[in-house]
Formats: sequence, structure tokens, C-alpha cells
Amino acid sequence: MEGASEQVNPIMGRCKLVDVDGVPLTEYFAANWEEKSNFQSFPDDVLIVTYPKSGTTWVQEIVEMVRSDADVEFCKRAPVYERVPFFDLTPDRSIGIESGLDLIAEMKPPRLIKSHLPYKLLPKSFFENDCKIIYVARNAKDVLVSYYYFERMLQFEPDPGTWEEFFMNYLAGRVNYGSWWDHVREWWENKEKHRVLFIFFEDMKENLHREVTKVAKFLDKDLSEDALDRIVHHTSFSKMKDNPMTNYKMAPSWVIDHSISSFMRKGEVGDWKNHLTVAQNEIFDEVYKKLMAGSSLTFKHEL
Ligand code: A3P
Repeated sequence: MEGASEQVNPIMGRCKLVDVDGVPLTEYFAANWEEKSNFQSFPDDVLIVTYPKSGTTWVQEIVEMVRSDADVEFCKRAPVYERVPFFDLTPDRSIGIESGLDLIAEMKPPRLIKSHLPYKLLPKSFFENDCKIIYVARNAKDVLVSYYYFERMLQFEPDPGTWEEFFMNYLAGRVNYGSWWDHVREWWENKEKHRVLFIFFEDMKENLHREVTKVAKFLDKDLSEDALDRIVHHTSFSKMKDNPMTNYKMAPSWVIDHSISSFMRKGEVGDWKNHLTVAQNEIFDEVYKKLMAGSSLTFKHEL
């Protein structure tokens, strides 16, 4: 999106959700689906996969730092969305937003790629090549709140409507990328079949040094204590909020409108308590129990 702020807004309003194999996806993410399904990975591609608003950008920056031996200047060479292309974002190429697939094609290996795709929609080539995948999960209630603010900011996503409307749509899986429950459960239940490191936003908040060490080990990087400390420092919430290469302020306002909210909004665990009413919380807990039944996936910071 470099230089895009000078361009005329090519986005003609917000997209609709379309169905891709039972998963609702924004039109831009569903576009060129065949090209995406047939994508040919390289064995040394590393993927960061999440349900939206689960700490994707945080882990993108962490992995960039890990792979560069904590080289802060290297990680400031471009905005994070250019350094780590977004696989799913492949709108019509005439639209002016750079296509994820085109950015990936320009990259030199080893490539680092971001995706929000559910397990069943990820192109098979990533599994055939046994690519390393870091899956980041965040508790469902904080994701809901973060997603609501984000959908209001992101100008090409469907209008989230009121908080009450978004709340009901999220519970029903009628949002971009569908049900949080399906997403986390499918990745959790299939993780042993592939090289997947499954980590949690809440654990990163609890002890970032420990989680960065896990990521480094997974990527076969033997980092000094000094390098690990630099990564923890560089990827703290306040540092990333002030860093134009990670806070999305360089993205044009017709893509992300920062007058509505910040991309680096709060970065906390439990902000849902400031948003869900008592009645909404009861409804949520009931749905949660039903949709998580039988799963061994538990959140350490169960809410
Ligand atoms: P909030 O909206 O709750 O603040 P994603 O990158 O998947 O879109 O996730 C964005 C969420 O991660 C936002 O949550 C953002 O503030 C939070 N986040 C990003 N970097 C963070 C960091 N270094 N520490 C804590 N939270 C971070």
C-alpha cells in the first residue's frame, strides 16, 4: 500500500460477505479463490495464522525480529503489512490495494506469510510441504470487542452495525472468517498432523519473554539473552503503538480510518468486561459452553 495515501480512493464502499465452502468471507478475501487454492508454497515458508484480532500483528513483528537476530532497523524497512504479506487479501488487481499473492511472489525466501484462513481453507500446498505454522489464539470475548472496533475502522469490511448487532452476528458466525469457535477448534484439533506451534495472546501478555523463546525455538533460532530482551522491548504494546511500521498509521484512511479507533487499541486481557452487559455475558457463556463442548482446548485465562 506504499504511496497509496496519495491515490484516489478506489474502494466503492464496503464489501459483502460471500460464502466459501461454508465460511463467510469478505469479497476481497474470497476473490481469485482458485488462484489461492492452487498456491504453491516453498518448504521454508513460515505462516502466521489467526482468527482476526488475536494478536497477528504482534506475532508478525516478533517473528520478524526473531528471524533477523533482533535487528530493529531491519524491521523498520517497511510497514508490517508489506514485510509480512497477507495471503488472503487478493482483491481485483485493478483496485489499488496490493494483492497478497503478488507481494508474496516478489519475496525472497524464506518467506513469512500471514493468513486468517480456517484450517479447511488453507491451500493444501502448505501442508504438503510441511511448512511451519504459528497459530495464535485469543479468548473469544476480547476478540469480539477488538473485532467490533476494527470492523468500524476497516473501510472495505461489511458495516458491523451496532454493538448489539455485531454481538449477535459474531455468536452466529456471520462475520468475516465465520465462527471463532470453528476456527480455533479446527486448528487445535489438527495441529499435531503438521508443524504447528499453537500459542495464546494471554500467555504473551503474561510472559512475553517465555513466549518469544518458544517462537525462536520453533524457528530453530538460538538467540542470546540480549537479543531476546531486545525483542521483548521492541514488541511491547507501547513500542508497537508508537511505531509507524506496526501501528497501521501509514495505511491510507480509505482503508483504515484511524479517526474511529486505533489499530493498537488497548492490547489488554479482559477489556470485554467494559463492553458486554450482564445479559450479553450470560448469552455468550451459554453459546460458548455449547460450541466448545468436547474440545480439549481450554484457555488458561478462562473468562
Ligand atoms: P485490541 O483491539 O484489544 O487492543 P490483530 O493484529 O490480530 O489484528 O490483533 C490486534 C489486537 O492485538 C489489538 O487488540 C491490538 O491492540 C493487539 N496488539 C497488537 N500488538 C500488541 C502488543 N504488542 N501487545 C499487546 N497487544 C497487542
